[in-house]
Amino acid sequence: MSQPIPNTPERQSIHGQWSSRWTFILAATGAAVGLGNIWKFPYLTGEHGGSAFVLVYMLCVAALGIPMMMAEVMLGRRGRQSPVNTMQTLAEETGGSQWWQIIGWSGTVAGVLILSYYSVIGGWTIAYVFKSAGGLFHGATAEGAQQLFEDFVSSPWIVFFWHSFFMVMTMVVVARGVKSGLEKAVQFLMPALFVLLLMVMGYSMTTGYFSKSLAFLFTPDFSRLSGTSMLTAMGQAFFSLSLGMGTIMIYGSYVPKGTSIAGTSCAIAGADTAVALIAGMAIFPIVFANGMEPGAGPSLIFQTLPVAFGQMTGGLVFGVLFFVLLLVAAWTSSISLIEPAVTLLIERFAMTRAAASFWCGVLTWLLGLGTIFSFNIWSGTTLFNMTFFGLLDFLTSNLMLPLGGILIAVFAGWIMTQDSSQSELNITNPRGYKAWILLIRFIAPIAVLIVLLHAVGFL
Ligand code: PFF
Repeated sequence: MSQPIPNTPERQSIHGQWSSRWTFILAATGAAVGLGNIWKFPYLTGEHGGSAFVLVYMLCVAALGIPMMMAEVMLGRRGRQSPVNTMQTLAEETGGSQWWQIIGWSGTVAGVLILSYYSVIGGWTIAYVFKSAGGLFHGATAEGAQQLFEDFVSSPWIVFFWHSFFMVMTMVVVARGVKSGLEKAVQFLMPALFVLLLMVMGYSMTTGYFSKSLAFLFTPDFSRLSGTSMLTAMGQAFFSLSLGMGTIMIYGSYVPKGTSIAGTSCAIAGADTAVALIAGMAIFPIVFANGMEPGAGPSLIFQTLPVAFGQMTGGLVFGVLFFVLLLVAAWTSSISLIEPAVTLLIERFAMTRAAASFWCGVLTWLLGLGTIFSFNIWSGTTLFNMTFFGLLDFLTSNLMLPLGGILIAVFAGWIMTQDSSQSELNITNPRGYKAWILLIRFIAPIAVLIVLLHAVGFL
């Protein structure tokens, strides 16, 4: 049983509390495991040459991701408010500057920006549930699947319809509060997603290209490592673990006292990484077997999986199930993305949860238009060589989340007293706490800074 923790202020969140440590793990895993693992990780790996990218990604998860996740949960549980107000309270408590609120603001804005494009891809996923149910993948070739995808994304109003559908699904749950429904749903949907991914991987093993894919993913080839690919791998680690933007902080604010922060953070990061790697092992054999381009970009899984489902026995059922579960994974993440903004409106403007959800939803929904158009009418309009979608993604994953991460690490390691962090984290092994403080004070902020400066050409 947990020990009472000394030196911890008795705050209660006005937004509720998870029923147990287990529900927190599930909800945070639901937030972490999403499109980032199954859609984004494979295509980034493909674009950045495979194994070296994967290695940097895994190093970032272990050395930066886990200590930062612990820091975010710790700050959230101590502050027990929206990230902006949590940082305000903790800054007051520690005598730090009110500027620390910037962590909350930047995270809240990043959440809205990410959700605006996340919801568009969530919409693609819903459309693909119907496409697979309608038998459209039957006997699909690589060219056929590509054509199907291109025809789909080049129709802005159809995509807009599905984006709107996904936004409504998200905001309905957010308006009701994350606790009811969501807790129960993730409990069996997450394991089901895992099993289905394993099944697709089972199919991939029969393609004859499984070992080539393993080599692509896991035999380090450092010649492919550039500043940009390192930054992208680090950004992806933050994105996939939902770090640097207050999501884990707000979920941490609902964590019951006495829960082991280190244990839960390792469990969440482990599950998240496992899903990403399995997705890679499931998708690349199909890519290679069908002579597809690993660097195809955001369309990668939407072009590869239909080929697999179109050829395997029972592919119709598996196809539908797979996209339904991908949708669920996207859904449980999208809910968490908007939670910092919604809780902020509730606290600062005394809005009801329903009204706050409505306004955040409308804003994000409209912003989503930019991403929809990036794949059709605006596809030729670029800034710094990036479309609107590319720019949003770069700005959030590669700049805002890592910068947020540095500030969180500095606050947790240097501004908060070691007495407070030690009692909050309550790590029984003294060496464990020493390792954490070393990582959070020095390694994490310095490493993130070096990668950032290197990528923008300062180093
Ligand atoms: N981690 C999610 C994914 O991998 O799809 C995306 C995400 C959710 C990023 C929540 C950031 C966040 F705050």
